[in-house]
Amino acid sequence: MHYGGQVVDVPGITALARKYQLKVIEDAAHCCPAHYRENPSEPWKSVGTAADISCYSFYANKTITTGEGGMACTQEDALADRMRIMSLHGISRDAWKRFTADGSWYYEIVAPGFKYNLTDVASSIGLHQLRRADDLHRRRTALAEEYHRRLGTLEEVILPKAHPDRVHSWHLYVIRLKLDRLRIDRAEVIQQLKQRGIGTSVHWMPLHMHPYYRETYGYRPEELPQAAGLYPQIISLPLFPDMNEGQLDFVVQSLTEVLRAGRK
Ligand SMILES: Cc1ncc(COP(=O)(O)O)c(C=O)c1O
Repeated sequence: MHYGGQVVDVPGITALARKYQLKVIEDAAHCCPAHYRENPSEPWKSVGTAADISCYSFYANKTITTGEGGMACTQEDALADRMRIMSLHGISRDAWKRFTADGSWYYEIVAPGFKYNLTDVASSIGLHQLRRADDLHRRRTALAEEYHRRLGTLEEVILPKAHPDRVHSWHLYVIRLKLDRLRIDRAEVIQQLKQRGIGTSVHWMPLHMHPYYRETYGYRPEELPQAAGLYPQIISLPLFPDMNEGQLDFVVQSLTEVLRAGRK
C-alpha cells in the first residue's frame, strides 16, 4: 500500500515476492498518478505496472473520482477474465456482449460471483477524470510544495517528503507534531483548527487499535510500536486541487498560531 501517494519500495517487494513465489496485490488507492524509478538513469514507471494486481480507488475523496468505485489492473489475461466474471455475478458474458446486434441472450453462471462492477455511468465520469489526472496532480504538487515552503521553518512539525526517485501523488499531506515540544496534544490542535473553520483528518488509527482487531485478536497498542507511536502525532492538512492560495495561507497562518501558542 502506497501511503498518501508515496510509492513504496516496489523493486524490493517484487524481489521478495519472486524469491518466495508470492503474488503481489498492490493497494494503489492513493496513487493515480504516482511514479517511481530504480535509479536516476532508469525511466520512470507508473504505479500499477509491477504488481500482479493493482487496485485503485475512485471514491469521492481520491485524486480522481467516479463518486464510488475503483479499478483493478493486471497484465495476466487469466486474472483479468476471473475478475471480470467474479465482479458480475459469475456470469460468463456481460450485458453489452449479450445485447449487441450479433449477440445472444444466452449466458451461464460459471462461479459464485459478486456485484462489484463499476457502473457505466461511473465509468463515463472516470474517462473524463482520467483526462484531467495530470492537471489535478500538478495542482496538488504545487500546493504540497507551497506547504513545504511555508511550514518548513515551523519547529513543532515534521513535514512529509517525497523519497528520491519517486513522484508523489500528494493524495494526502500528513504532518507529524513534535509532541515533546508542545503543551497541547493532537486532539487540541485539531479542535483549535476546527474552531477557525479548518477541517483536518487523521490517516489513520492503526488497525490493531480498532475494537474489532483489539477484541478479536487481543492486540495491545505497543505490539506494533511504530504505528502506535506515530498515531498521536499525525494530522492530514486540507489539500484539494481547487484549494486557492488564500485558503492555503489561512491554514498555514492558523496552524502556526495554534502551535506557537501551544509551545512548551
Ligand atoms: C489505502 C486505501 N485502500 C483502499 C481504500 C478503499 O477504497 P474504496 O473506498 O474505493 O473501496 C481506501 C479508501 O479510502 C484507501 O485509502
